[in-house]
Amino acid sequence: MSGTVIVGAQWGDEGKGKVVDYLAGKADTVVRFQGGNNAGHTVVVGGKKVIFHLVPSGMLYPGKLVVIGNGVVVDLEVLNEELENFKQMGIDYKDRFFISSSAHIIFPYHKEIDALREQMRGDKKIGTTKRGIGPAYEDKVARMGIRIGDLLYPEILKGKLETYLDHQNRYIVDILGGEPFKFEDVYEEIMKLGGNIKKHIINTTHLLHRLKGKKILFEGAQGSLLDVDHGTYPFVTSSNTTIGGVFTGSGVNPSFISEIIGISKAYTTRVGGGPFPTELNDETGQRLRDRGGEYGATTGRPRRTGWLDIVALNYAAKINGLTGIAITKLDVLSGEEEIKIAVEYECEGEITGEFPPFSYLLEKCVPVYKTLPGWKEDISDCRNFSDLPETAQNYIHRIEELTGVPVVMVSVGQEREQIIHLKEII
Ligand code: GDP
Ligand code: IMO
Ligand code: MG
Repeated sequence: MSGTVIVGAQWGDEGKGKVVDYLAGKADTVVRFQGGNNAGHTVVVGGKKVIFHLVPSGMLYPGKLVVIGNGVVVDLEVLNEELENFKQMGIDYKDRFFISSSAHIIFPYHKEIDALREQMRGDKKIGTTKRGIGPAYEDKVARMGIRIGDLLYPEILKGKLETYLDHQNRYIVDILGGEPFKFEDVYEEIMKLGGNIKKHIINTTHLLHRLKGKKILFEGAQGSLLDVDHGTYPFVTSSNTTIGGVFTGSGVNPSFISEIIGISKAYTTRVGGGPFPTELNDETGQRLRDRGGEYGATTGRPRRTGWLDIVALNYAAKINGLTGIAITKLDVLSGEEEIKIAVEYECEGEITGEFPPFSYLLEKCVPVYKTLPGWKEDISDCRNFSDLPETAQNYIHRIEELTGVPVVMVSVGQEREQIIHLKEII
């Protein structure tokens, strides 16, 4: 067994891109298994920033296989842009980038429906990325999706699109009050965008099974609390961001997996609507946003910020079966006099350590905090755990104690090498 899963343990943007890029150096293959270009995974190497939306964050290493699995929803325009960008950077991906024939295509009408629905929801909006993610997954489950493999059969794709577009146009016009899409425009555009992708389309499930025994890294998108089943529904994304998504979204089975690493910031952030018990709407929250550069990699929206939430982290550990936790952005806490950790919630008069699966209950939960002393030192040059100030070491040990999961890595800056290892995982 040599598969390592990387999942977000919070509400996304935990630093998955950075950790995947780092680990990809030791892996053979990196696989995306869910989500779409709602993801924005930032990698910084030698001061140069690359933001990945669809292509796995292992792309920067020559020779590594990068795979978009069947569970991903794909905006072909974004994929083309991303690949073109790699070409400009001199990165050769010709024989090592593969996309599943069973991944679903995001069409322009999905994006329009996403945007119109958000508008209709008014102040109850989810705050989606408006990338058409929800509507594309809806069509997949409704069995009216069009798959990447259909690009290889234009006549079949055409027939499906005619039927589905007619249906969606009626929904857009009659229910959502939008403008209809013209069949010819949508068809021609998608066939044009598909042109460059065709040579990369394969059955990625069989590919991964042929690679069994190699070091495969599974790169999650979003975070556990945005999972459509286990997250803060309805303020979630439309895919399974937790461990189950690895299997349904790539076709591998549990025997491929040896490590499941949850990524968590040393504090918490969230973009978009929905409950967030440890949110700080004060100067401390603003300080974390400023120091952490907490603005969305996909939409540029300011991220909401708050203290680390152990109730939520324990829930993510439980759902995913985390074998390790990577703590990112510890450097951002430098300078805080005191650091708080939520260890329990007070919810409807009761104290609980169990994360409630209902948004309206979570909304009423008040965190019970433990306060720990902070540190003043700049820790961004620390490369060994023992280089960290004692209070920072204690903070990490406290997280391990409270979760019962070992911290395997601590990240202290954006750059690839700004990382402290506590345990070899690949
Ligand atoms: P992802 O979606 O989980 O890949 O995370 P994002 O890339 O959306 O957001 C994480 C942000 O934090 C990016 O700008 C990263 O470059 C940055 N980052 C990651 N790890 C660290 C760290 O340890 N310290 C600091 N200061 N920034 C980090
Ligand atoms: P990465 O992979 C943070 C949030 C949106 C919104 C909700 C639903 O970079 O961690 P969607 O467009 O998916 O229908 O939006 O989910 N969201 C993310 N938040 N990081 C992400 O991805 C996200 N992808 C979606 O802000 O609240
Ligand atoms: Mg992100």
